[in-house]
Amino acid sequence: MASAQQLIGLVKSHAEGDADRFYDLAMQLSAAEEQKGHTRLAKQLRDWAEAGQSAPAQKTPAVTSIAAPRGDLAGFLAASYPSERLGDVILPAEIESELAHLVIETRMREKLEEKGLKPRRRVLFSGPPGTGKTLSASALAGELQYPLFSVMLHGLITKFMGETAQKLKMIFDAIKTTRGVYLFDEIDALAAARGGENDVGEARRILNSFLQFLDEDTGPSIVIATTNLPGILDRAVLRRFDLVLPYAMPDAPAIRQALERRLIGFTLGRIGWKRVTDLAAGLSTADVVAAAEDAARRAVLNDIDKIATQDLLDALERRRSLQGIGTDDHGTRPPALSSSQSRTTAAVPGKGRGRSKKAK
Ligand SMILES: Nc1ncnc2c1ncn2[C@@H]1O[C@H](COP(=O)(O)OP(=O)(O)OP(=O)(O)O)[C@@H](O)[C@H]1O
Ligand SMILES: [Mg+2]
Repeated sequence: MASAQQLIGLVKSHAEGDADRFYDLAMQLSAAEEQKGHTRLAKQLRDWAEAGQSAPAQKTPAVTSIAAPRGDLAGFLAASYPSERLGDVILPAEIESELAHLVIETRMREKLEEKGLKPRRRVLFSGPPGTGKTLSASALAGELQYPLFSVMLHGLITKFMGETAQKLKMIFDAIKTTRGVYLFDEIDALAAARGGENDVGEARRILNSFLQFLDEDTGPSIVIATTNLPGILDRAVLRRFDLVLPYAMPDAPAIRQALERRLIGFTLGRIGWKRVTDLAAGLSTADVVAAAEDAARRAVLNDIDKIATQDLLDALERRRSLQGIGTDDHGTRPPALSSSQSRTTAAVPGKGRGRSKKAK
């Protein structure tokens, strides 16, 4: 059964109209009952908590105050409610389990806080383009049923340092007051010029104020930053994050999973998976998904619902050539990081592959 303190918290948050706290407490109760094996009760609690969360009257005010184009904020912060879930992202087991744990920590925040612990909230996803970093941020928000606030860095950075810092402050104020997942996508934009010959001071100062705000932030939100270029983020940046997850190009099982998942609804013949995954080596997950869609489109237009090995090989071949990856390259490139090689770590591996962002 729930502790007296939990019940008081639940009733109090309801009486005070604090829907977020009510949701957190109800989810905690649900998790505790789940652990005791009371699966049905846990599910009922979860369902009611979620029903309360999705009631528009409770969710809308906090979000519209951010999302509505009030003042400058709307120019560099976009709100959405992603429907993706962590199960939609194909990831090495270690990353998958860290993300799942992050969700549990967030939901069980109160329990951690009772023992002087905090959930991890500042996360960096690093890795090559098209490996699921942005998708993971959406999935995390979807899983937690939090709004996703995407920070548009291009709208944020102005010629004037004072203005940029002011905008950053507005975002961190929102992070404090409106619970959500805040995504600083492609954070290298803040660090890019650092160490370069031009304008070193400017980018450095912007990055520094970002780090300072990150340090000071104790709010309930999750802050996610992503980068393709971990090499340009130094230790001072990295140590600000509670968790750094290295995304990598998909290995053979991940390639197969991405193809099969995208082709649900089609009949797959006896696929020669080895040939298919060999040819896909070196392509990102986004490329592989695009190749599956390409094969699917052709099948639909030809009124066929069966997809064969050759269809996949042709689609992958087209994708390779669109990306400028010759067949000659095939087999000579270093193998993709396998699930078992990938590690969640506080240290970021070397630079990304340096492929253009358009090469997704
Ligand atoms: N790991 C993955 N699992 C499932 N789908 C993926 C994955 N990675 C990429 N995709 C597919 O590719 C699309 C683009 O991926 P996403 O934008 O998350 O890549 P990214 O790592 O953020 O790339 P970039 O560094 O270029 O921003 C996704 O919307 C999804 O369709
Ligand atoms: Mg991205």
